[in-house]
Amino acid sequence: MTQQPLWWQKGIIYQIYPRSYQDSNNDGIGDLPGIRQRLDHLQSLNIDAIWLSPIYPSPMHDFGYDVADYVGINPLFGTMDDFDTLLADVHARGLKLIIDLVPNHTSDEHAWFQESRSSRDNPKRDWYIWHDPAPDGGPPNNWRSFFGGPAWTFDKATGQYYLHQFVTQQPELNYRHPDVLPAMLDVMRFWLDKGVDGFRVDVIWLMIKDAQFRNEPPNPDWDGVDPFNSHRHIYTQNMPEVHDLIRQMRAVLDAYDERMMVGEIYLPYDELMAYYGPNFDECHMPFNFHLIQAKWQAQNIRQLVNSYEAALPAGATPNWVLGNHDQHRIATRVGVDQARVANMLLLTLRGTPTTYYGEELGMVDGHIPPAFIQDPPAVNQPEIAHIIGRDPERTPMQWDGSVNAGFSGETAVPWLPVADNYKTINVAAQNEDLTSMLNFYRALTQLRRDEPALHVGSYQDVEANNENVLAYVRESVEGNGRSFLILLNFSGEPQQVNIKDLGTTTRIILATDMQRTGELALANFTLAPNQGLILQL
Ligand code: NOJ
Repeated sequence: MTQQPLWWQKGIIYQIYPRSYQDSNNDGIGDLPGIRQRLDHLQSLNIDAIWLSPIYPSPMHDFGYDVADYVGINPLFGTMDDFDTLLADVHARGLKLIIDLVPNHTSDEHAWFQESRSSRDNPKRDWYIWHDPAPDGGPPNNWRSFFGGPAWTFDKATGQYYLHQFVTQQPELNYRHPDVLPAMLDVMRFWLDKGVDGFRVDVIWLMIKDAQFRNEPPNPDWDGVDPFNSHRHIYTQNMPEVHDLIRQMRAVLDAYDERMMVGEIYLPYDELMAYYGPNFDECHMPFNFHLIQAKWQAQNIRQLVNSYEAALPAGATPNWVLGNHDQHRIATRVGVDQARVANMLLLTLRGTPTTYYGEELGMVDGHIPPAFIQDPPAVNQPEIAHIIGRDPERTPMQWDGSVNAGFSGETAVPWLPVADNYKTINVAAQNEDLTSMLNFYRALTQLRRDEPALHVGSYQDVEANNENVLAYVRESVEGNGRSFLILLNFSGEPQQVNIKDLGTTTRIILATDMQRTGELALANFTLAPNQGLILQL
């Protein structure tokens, strides 16, 4: 008998960026009680798990990814009681809660770093990565920060540099020191004992760096835009020793029931697969971000899906992501009309989907006037802010058409401006419209939940005989239910499709416009511009 799939193998993950979801106290910043007020909405989306970006005490130099205390709650977001109440309420609704774990670096305000920087002989000195200056007094090597400039900052008091691959206030922990990982494993146990269902682990593939601090070679394929990409990061990323750390993290999770970790990893498929672990003893899932990075073209996506399917070790749980708080929104990247096709793809491919908040509405990147830019890489590098800045995808959730879109009270000033289109693109308006993006999203997720073929079935590539159309079949593996053909028109033009070998007539179960219904003969038919169809075979 096949084993029943676990929640994270068949469910949908929904990412909340807490600063931007719902502000309950009118300080312009979203918070935990705010999220609690929105559980009805979350439940109405047929999602299974909520992932919260960091809610820990933090000076917010990187909006919470600079953690000053791993076992506390930032007062901006509420109290530990608020967290416990939220967790209990989420569980009472049959949902799971995943939190962000940020093990690679702390805030410079974390007590560990305060000790570490206090003197060269402090017992915690080597919990962080310190290095003498180069002979000319400059940084020890050529490693760069993702956010611009060198990855090293000089500490005058002790005469050494410390490593940080993000903002200067995010010193990197040294996992070559024997006490650091045990401390992080204790942090994991603290939250698991509270009952959280898992972790999204920040930059897990960066956790250990070259022991010899070798310079990184130039990147011959650099496009000249973001200076970070001018080097090949072979000594700061994806080091072989990282896998042992991850296995120890996984062992902590395995001592509990059905908890999971999903690792943030941007790597090509062959290298990504190693993060499942040789015995499925590392990440339950390494995030698959390739839909975010891919050129949005049917044959390209087809090739990407097929190569992912081919690279997955037998028995591994696949996953797909359309967007997150570091990437321009999908509706901006591919266009508002095509965003429905993108969501139909996300929710019908084989594997656990992750939806970024607001994607269920088709939210687009907000316009951030230069004076309002807050994201550190954009602040540090104004000349490329429009390309690398992450504020646009972090604008407040659009709940209704009132001032501040129902995110904050009307007199508050949201931490980022609400996107211009909030009067029409919002939850309240889309709830009323039977064919809205929101109701389309709900129909899709309901279908995915109801149909074994869609949440655990097999995937089979199909030739649609049209380069603008992606076609595949999802079949229920144990004969327990219906099988579906998915057809997606990646273009803004009508497309002729001709699929002969799948029988003659099928029935439309769901269309992206929520209007096209009825029977369809597969021999020769037309897909409308930006149209996707789920057909029952
Ligand atoms: C990845 C996170 O997703 C991003 O938002 C953050 O800035 C860096 N890691 C540093 O923690």
